[in-house]
Amino acid sequence: MAASLLRNSSARAALRAASSTSTKRAGLAGASFVRTKATLPDLAYDYGALEPAVSGKIMELHHKNHHNTYVTSYNNFSEQLAEAQAKNDIATQINLKPLINFHGGGHINHTLFWENLAPKSQGGGEPPSGALAKAINNSYGSLDAFKEKFNTALAGIQGSGWAWLVQDIQTGNIGIKTYANQDPVVGQFRPILGVDAWEHAYYLQYQNRKAEYFKAIWEVINWKTAEKRLK
Ligand SMILES: [Fe+2]
Repeated sequence: MAASLLRNSSARAALRAASSTSTKRAGLAGASFVRTKATLPDLAYDYGALEPAVSGKIMELHHKNHHNTYVTSYNNFSEQLAEAQAKNDIATQINLKPLINFHGGGHINHTLFWENLAPKSQGGGEPPSGALAKAINNSYGSLDAFKEKFNTALAGIQGSGWAWLVQDIQTGNIGIKTYANQDPVVGQFRPILGVDAWEHAYYLQYQNRKAEYFKAIWEVINWKTAEKRLK
């Protein structure tokens, strides 16, 4: 579709912001453009493949239900946002931003999470190597010391949230950060490795013993994925 058909920069921005996969044609204020929707990604392993660290039932509910709800809601609210942008309705756009952050963040976070997990048979739990191993050793002394600090950060999350190993995009330094709810790792930091500390990620299997979940998750961490994310 030619850019000249787009009536204003908001509509062009909406087109640029659209991601791949399925597409939908929408007409707004006389303009016509193609909007694409976020979709639930397939997992690279079976739901039960992370057992005993994470049960197959948790993985199935977490992926098919929880993650899918974020995808559906993100698509709904981003469609509303595009309509508000086309009408230059700033108040509605501002009102929608927290919902885009929550559901879009939920989609991004879970997509990164599934990718940074792997069954033991596919390398899950195998320690990092190369630049990432060096960065962890330089910053934390050892992988075990890093895991301990990461798990302390996870345990310190009040309510729902995530802990991430991040890289500062300006300095290149790595660090551990926690984020509330579904706040995504964007802006100054690049996500390297994330662990979901929401109750839906462990409660069915570990109940109140979340420290056991935080300990077990390292058995299925895909450090190869984390290495690729480090720049
Ligand atoms: Fe989750």
